[in-house]
Amino acid sequence: MEFFKIYRDLIPEFDVFLDSLEKAHPSHLRVNTLKVRKEELKERLSRYGCQLEELPVEDAFAFSGLETPGATLEYFLGYYHLQGLSSMLPPLVLKPEKGQLILDMCASPGSKTSQIAAMTENRATLFANELNKKRLSILKFQLERLGVTSTIITNYQAQNFPTKLPDGSPLRFDRVLLDAPCTGEGRYRRIMRKDELEKTSEYSERASQRMSGYQKQMILRAFDLLREGGLLVYSTCTYSPYENEEVVDHLLRNRPEAKVEEFSINGIRLQEGTISWKDREFHKDLSKTRRVYPHYVDSWGFYIAKIRRL
Ligand SMILES: C[S@@+](CC[C@H](N)C(=O)[O-])C[C@H]1O[C@@H](n2cnc3c(N)ncnc32)[C@H](O)[C@@H]1O
Repeated sequence: MEFFKIYRDLIPEFDVFLDSLEKAHPSHLRVNTLKVRKEELKERLSRYGCQLEELPVEDAFAFSGLETPGATLEYFLGYYHLQGLSSMLPPLVLKPEKGQLILDMCASPGSKTSQIAAMTENRATLFANELNKKRLSILKFQLERLGVTSTIITNYQAQNFPTKLPDGSPLRFDRVLLDAPCTGEGRYRRIMRKDELEKTSEYSERASQRMSGYQKQMILRAFDLLREGGLLVYSTCTYSPYENEEVVDHLLRNRPEAKVEEFSINGIRLQEGTISWKDREFHKDLSKTRRVYPHYVDSWGFYIAKIRRL
């Protein structure tokens, strides 16, 4: 908790923000419409005594009363996916369409890949890329469980993802999602389940700055893989401006064809991105990017930028 005090001037209503970190994470799920209708899932889960409450995102629920949500028959049948509300937002900004060629550059465990597949009814061609070999098998398991059939799994370093096909022709995508590896500050709540705790690391400005260096390489490659007019969504689950606005600022400085676009999401309160941090000044368009805070959206902290290739 002490670490977050560095964000006192960045995060509005800072004391309310700190209070929100005292509360446990709510449990959220996304109905997998590739396999089941929302009404049928609700009916089946209610038989376990599970209470479901609609969230502002379509096909998403907060739930309680389900002790082992990752071990029901419906889970194994792929009828739902356990996914925090904030994690469902980047695909909504990406707005994938049927028939498009889409790249998810850092895909495991596949929450957003499977959401994109559901949004496009398995009718877009999706590349799901992941570097970590162990996490590749988790990705494969989840995509199979969820009935995702439109995906090609690849194992490249995102920053070195090939820009050419084997015959030498350029490889360009209509949409690229870069849900980057990050320090994960946005996952923190004071009381965490064991599985959540395992995913957090020690927070420090130095760790953020180091991560920022990798993210800057990744965002340039993500952008270079877009066709003209294509859309890149960059997201992280951290508050650190080094990993958020500074990374997008780096892209804008190095790629004049990159243009940040403003967005909103119905029913979700978003905060403007910052245009300065400590001794750093960022491009004014960084205010068009969006921050997701747990005292406004009861879920993980997130950052989302929508970038068009002109
Ligand atoms: C934030 S997680 C992605 C979560 C995923 N998009 C989802 O919604 O389920 C970031 C992922 O990037 C992977 N990763 C880390 N460094 C990478 C790199 N250089 N290239 C590709 N993937 C990388 C990590 O192993 C991790 O699985």
